[in-house]
Amino acid sequence: MPEDRLPSEPDTRGLRLVGMTFPKSFGSDNHAGVHPAVLRAIADANPGDAVAYGADVWTGEATAGLREAFGADDAFLVLNGSGANVLGLSLLLRRHEAVICAESAHINTDECGAPEQLVGTKLLTVPTADGKITPDLIAEKLSGRGDDHRSQPGVVALTQSTELGTCYTLAEMRKIADFCHASDLRLYLDGARLANAAASLDCSLAELAECADALSFGGTKNGAMGAEALIVMRPTLSADAPYLRKQLLQLSSKLRFVAAQFNALLRDDLWRINASHANAMARLLAEGAATVDGIEIVHPVQANAVFARLHPRHIAALQENWTFHVWDEGDNVVRWMTAFDTTEADVDAFLADIRSAAAS
Ligand SMILES: Cc1ncc(COP(=O)(O)O)c(C=O)c1O
Repeated sequence: MPEDRLPSEPDTRGLRLVGMTFPKSFGSDNHAGVHPAVLRAIADANPGDAVAYGADVWTGEATAGLREAFGADDAFLVLNGSGANVLGLSLLLRRHEAVICAESAHINTDECGAPEQLVGTKLLTVPTADGKITPDLIAEKLSGRGDDHRSQPGVVALTQSTELGTCYTLAEMRKIADFCHASDLRLYLDGARLANAAASLDCSLAELAECADALSFGGTKNGAMGAEALIVMRPTLSADAPYLRKQLLQLSSKLRFVAAQFNALLRDDLWRINASHANAMARLLAEGAATVDGIEIVHPVQANAVFARLHPRHIAALQENWTFHVWDEGDNVVRWMTAFDTTEADVDAFLADIRSAAAS
């Protein structure tokens, strides 16, 4: 394995806040830097001019690579995950239609109402224990069908891996897809962390995508600087995508630099190496934390997130030196996330502090 494909050594420059230095962040995979191979691909794409808005060789290579990896009809490079979601939903929805999704879905909790504002849809949310929706939960939201006073469910949106660090199995996805097809519902996947799901389930991107009508594929949390894609699986859906991408402000003029990032991630499946590593670091962290008295791991660790319950005093003590989110203040649940560049040494150092905080 070439050296630049290995996670880097712990970087003591860490996260800087007004002159203070912190160790590796467990706050988000977005806190990580850029994989060296991605940075080099951007630099390699830099010399000389290239035609803007995607009429360049890098974009041609990236879209062909994504089409092949997903068995997709087409792929559209975009700038961020929220943009990919809004673009995907706008392709799949008619004006009077609603989206069924988990309460914890990013489209519901963290996109500032973009699907409602920009697509004009309504989100019909369902509570879940583990971030995963089921055919039964979807069925509960179909009661208003045919009533012209009610938004008509048109799309089911899943997140894979979920916001709670769990993964739908391929069988679970197939079951949901069968239900959707039988119920005249289209299926969208938020794949901001699809790479982590593919690595966790040891399956291909195409296997994850085949049940969906459209999905996003995140590069940013996987070592890119900022690169996401909307993958369109059904030929009838692709025609409108270029126009909607432009209207939704997701068409970058210097698209070659977004494309170069995907080309680096797709080369020799670097995306899978990065995701497998992040997942392995989350498992290591969870296994270590689970042995500490007073700490409870609250969701199965199936991707690169660990959700743990611990005493608020211990949370506060840990936050003096470490960056992570308190996910549910009322329930004392925190989220620890790992990334492609989290090292075993980072996890060991964090675990040592977790042990001493819990003992205090
Ligand atoms: C599940 C999920 N979907 C989508 C996104 C996209 O976010 P952004 O628009 O910040 O790229 C995120 C980012 O945290 C996410 O966690």
